[in-house]
Amino acid sequence: MKIIAANWKMNKTNKEAKAFFVEFEKLRRKTNNQIIFCAPFTTLSTVAKLGKELNFAAGAQNFHPAKNGAFTGEISLSMVLETGARVVLVGHSERRTLFRETDEFINEKIQVALTAGFKVIFCIGETLAEREQGKTNAVLKKQITKGLKDVVSYNNLIIAYEPVWAIGTGLTATNAQIKETHAYIKTLIDVPLLYGGSANEKNCEEIFAIPNVDGALVGGASLVAEKFAVMVNHGRK
Ligand code: PGA
Repeated sequence: MKIIAANWKMNKTNKEAKAFFVEFEKLRRKTNNQIIFCAPFTTLSTVAKLGKELNFAAGAQNFHPAKNGAFTGEISLSMVLETGARVVLVGHSERRTLFRETDEFINEKIQVALTAGFKVIFCIGETLAEREQGKTNAVLKKQITKGLKDVVSYNNLIIAYEPVWAIGTGLTATNAQIKETHAYIKTLIDVPLLYGGSANEKNCEEIFAIPNVDGALVGGASLVAEKFAVMVNHGRK
């Protein structure tokens, strides 16, 4: 069993999402893989509703940790809950970099989401400069320590290891790099561990065969039904 999560980022209107699922359902085969679609807020209700019929989970890509209040443009967890989504992404490198989310803010979000009963996909990863300077393990350890400070239960926690330099670049980490890094992360924390960063329908079988890889977080390849169906059909003989 693998956990295969799509991160649609800022892609797909409701119309496009519905068209995607028509194609996806034609190609998808029965497996025991767990499938999650992290969709934009505007399509989240549609995706969650379809997920109930078609057996996948819906996830939000973001939320604000406050219950409510003067946070123009933000969405609270009770609003996410109302859409039917039960999973949230936290700590994605695009939010860390483009939206200046700090380890402290990420920690607040993780605590609030786990307390509210959400499943959390917590993303971590080093930049190319950090890897080249031999700092990968130190960076990952710091992100995990700070991100999970005061978190008492890891029951609903999934970690996604996404080397920043591999996201959306077509540069996948080598199998040896994934193997070594996943083994290191598992010494720090024993929760399901996904790989992310240019994972696609062509490299997924190899990646899924690496020890300590419990699934994938998929950006680009999750936007195309034909490609993502190949990934989620993993394990089907
Ligand atoms: P990618 O994105 O598969 O397009 O590299 C992965 C992610 O950002 O989660």
